[in-house]
Amino acid sequence: MNYNKKTVMDVEVAGKKVLLRCDFNVPMAKDGSGVITDDKRIRAALPTIQYLLDQGAAVIACSHMGKPVASFDKWVQKQTEKGKDPATLTEEKWRKSLAELSLKPVAARLSELLGREVIMAADVVGEDAQAKAAALQAGQVLLLENTRFEKGETKNDPKLAKAMADMAEVYVSDAFGAVHRAHASTAGVADYLPAVSGFLIQKELDFIGGALANPKRPLVAILGGSKVSSKIGVINNLLEIADTVIIGGGMAYTFSAAKGGKIGNSLFEADWQDYANEMVAKAEAKGVKLLLPVDTVCGDKFAPDANVQTVEAGSIPDGWEGLDIGPKTVELYCAAVKDAGTVIWNGPMGVFEFAAFAKGTEAVAEALSKTDAITIIGGGDSAAAVQQLGYADKMTHISTGGGASLEFMEGKELPGVACLLDK
Ligand code: 3PG
Repeated sequence: MNYNKKTVMDVEVAGKKVLLRCDFNVPMAKDGSGVITDDKRIRAALPTIQYLLDQGAAVIACSHMGKPVASFDKWVQKQTEKGKDPATLTEEKWRKSLAELSLKPVAARLSELLGREVIMAADVVGEDAQAKAAALQAGQVLLLENTRFEKGETKNDPKLAKAMADMAEVYVSDAFGAVHRAHASTAGVADYLPAVSGFLIQKELDFIGGALANPKRPLVAILGGSKVSSKIGVINNLLEIADTVIIGGGMAYTFSAAKGGKIGNSLFEADWQDYANEMVAKAEAKGVKLLLPVDTVCGDKFAPDANVQTVEAGSIPDGWEGLDIGPKTVELYCAAVKDAGTVIWNGPMGVFEFAAFAKGTEAVAEALSKTDAITIIGGGDSAAAVQQLGYADKMTHISTGGGASLEFMEGKELPGVACLLDK
């Protein structure tokens, strides 16, 4: 895939209306109070918004938030599947579920950060949005409502894409977190407007793309997380590129079981054992170092107050489960990081939410903070771990995309990037 895309600096935006797709899918307080608990994604969009405003553009920003169900009937069906009593499922409750995913709190935060008014539209392409977009002047910012309130968004409906495009003259995508989605606002609109990337997408493409295409070697990939099945693509692709691939997290137990190890009650995907063995064979054939845990910290239950013991990998007693990498594994993995030219990290080494099983993830994060290597952290859990541990400013790049960075590392085409104009 060609990542050499035109950017916002390659088009004339002065005096024009620019439709800007952002990823404002930010975490919100669970109590429905509308409080944004982490505004990183809003801050990440500021350089592009500020640039557009400085150039004299009028900015029509849009984003999705969460996974609202855009039709009442579909919502009832989904809630019923989840075991809710259909008699209690009223239209009022459905509307409340939508209201909780409104972008109004984002407009308020964006306005604070920009130090200027952000006009909020009541809909995406309805009367209110159309009228406000038509009246928008250079230097003003309008935020459309949650794009997923429109049924056509996730279906990449051309009618919706065209209606959005009709409000503007240029399309800029800066929603790196959503570029793996072929939706109306992330890809479809590019059929109707000149489409370029913003600074955030550019930065993500430069760092992650650069690490994959032309890494400073040795390239060490650290892959964790609970399931082999969700990381297949990444393991497979990185075995083609990396010099060392390190496996941690819950998926390591499927590799251990595939070698005939005893894994007790640890996470295990029986159907993926052959695949695990194939990956070991592939690494050997390609001369890639594949590092697997040599010891394991186990608990007698999946809980923060579990009893804890450390055993050799493949020797987990019955009734116990592996919840973190052990100290010898930490030493092995940290040594690989120390001598690396580039490190890509995606997925925690253990259940880092529980203090007793956080040491592996903490040690890897610390090793990354100290190495001279270029360090690229995939979005999602590993980004959260690095942030939580206070090492964020020591990393070369922390991606704003969870699923998007994973698919990028899998070598998949990203529809939200593919649709942009080539340089
Ligand atoms: C994310 O949070 O990873 C992006 O905003 C994409 O969200 P989605 O998984 O709901 O498409």
